[in-house]
Amino acid sequence: MLDFSLTEEQLSAAQMVKEFGEKEIYPTIKEFDRKQEMNPKALPRMAELGILGINIPVRYGGQGFDYVTLGLVCEELERIDSTLRVVMSVHMGLNSMGVLQWGTEEQKQRFLAPQARGEKYAGFGLTEPGVGSDVANMASTARKDGNDYIINGEKMWISLATKAHHILWFAKTDPAAGHKGITAFMVETDMPGVTTGDIHGKLGVRAGSTGWINCQDVRVPAANRIGEEGEGFKIAMSCLDNGRYTVASGATGLIRASMEAAVKYSQERETFGQPIAQYQLVQQKIAWMQQWYDVARLLYLKAGWMKNQGQRNTRETSMAKWYATDYSFKAAHEAIQVHGAYGYSDEYDVERYLRNSRGAIIYEGTSEIHQLMQAGYAFGWRKDRPLRCELPAYDADFWQDEG
Ligand code: CAA
Repeated sequence: MLDFSLTEEQLSAAQMVKEFGEKEIYPTIKEFDRKQEMNPKALPRMAELGILGINIPVRYGGQGFDYVTLGLVCEELERIDSTLRVVMSVHMGLNSMGVLQWGTEEQKQRFLAPQARGEKYAGFGLTEPGVGSDVANMASTARKDGNDYIINGEKMWISLATKAHHILWFAKTDPAAGHKGITAFMVETDMPGVTTGDIHGKLGVRAGSTGWINCQDVRVPAANRIGEEGEGFKIAMSCLDNGRYTVASGATGLIRASMEAAVKYSQERETFGQPIAQYQLVQQKIAWMQQWYDVARLLYLKAGWMKNQGQRNTRETSMAKWYATDYSFKAAHEAIQVHGAYGYSDEYDVERYLRNSRGAIIYEGTSEIHQLMQAGYAFGWRKDRPLRCELPAYDADFWQDEG
């Protein structure tokens, strides 16, 4: 059976987010983009509206929606503002869903529930100044000391670095063991020895929060270790399966935003006595954008559906992320071309779409990493093995029960 329909609940969650973005965020986007600051109302309002816990079971402080709803929500958020979707990528995709998958019941109550209620913000500490794609070569260390671990290291390009309360931090507990020597911890940013700072001067996502985090002899109780020692690499990769899903669905929203802007402008702007929408070369660009949007949406919805079924979706999510991010950049580029010189100015939104689309081709797996993964699957070199803890399949009764 194949069913492309969305439920009333899924559509109403997406509509709620659309209205929030249009009414409360869109009017001040340019101001915060120019100031390179995050709108101070964004996170508290996302918390209040339940967006920060949208697909987390009610018993863990969330709203009890499914994983497809998360994708629809990210599409609506990024259609308005990429910085809002980036929040969801780290807070929900990379951290909260990781705790849902790998955390103990006690950790779900202690970390996940306040995150889902939006009382605590969550980040993801994987990338380091010297390590991006080559995760297994990280320099961060965690040394066992009694019932604690002592963590040292620096993480860079971390979204919400200066705002998050909980960072899912990856460090080597056995530096000689390569990817099998990495362990995951929940570092609380008020622990002594944690320092953070913002990074300014980025090409895009200027109204977002990106920074660095340093841990110097930070004492973290073993109760904050997520998963077993040595499971950190698999935990990081499975978190990326969820983070990449939010990036894919968000980038799909950015394709839609570029297409909507180009459709609107091309019907208003006249050259040689008629709206430029009448020219076939302009229509061709709109048709391309529609094609890119439709394919990107199908790809992320398929990955979301697989998550709902409890099926491993590393391959499908990687494809969705690679496709949507590459084509959101192309869509913004074509939308600028439709706008001519006006598209080059921040009087219109499309120049911001181009800048905001660029980072996603790098973070959460560069397009090159995704091409290597896709080739690996096609050749049969890459196979997904079952994990000790899989992302739980969506079960409406469990998700909506107060527990
Ligand atoms: N889930 C769980 N386990 C996984 C997995 C997944 N998705 N993918 C791989 N694994 C497991 C494998 O089964 C294997 O297990 P065994 O040791 O038991 O065999 C182990 O992990 C090693 O896997 P691979 O052999 O596939 O690893 P690799 O070295 O071939 O490839 C890579 C790894 C694809 C290059 C990977 O390191 C990668 O994706 N790098 C990109 C990292 C990345 O996306 N960084 C983004 C940082 S986050 C960010 O940007 C957020 C932000 O704040 C903006």
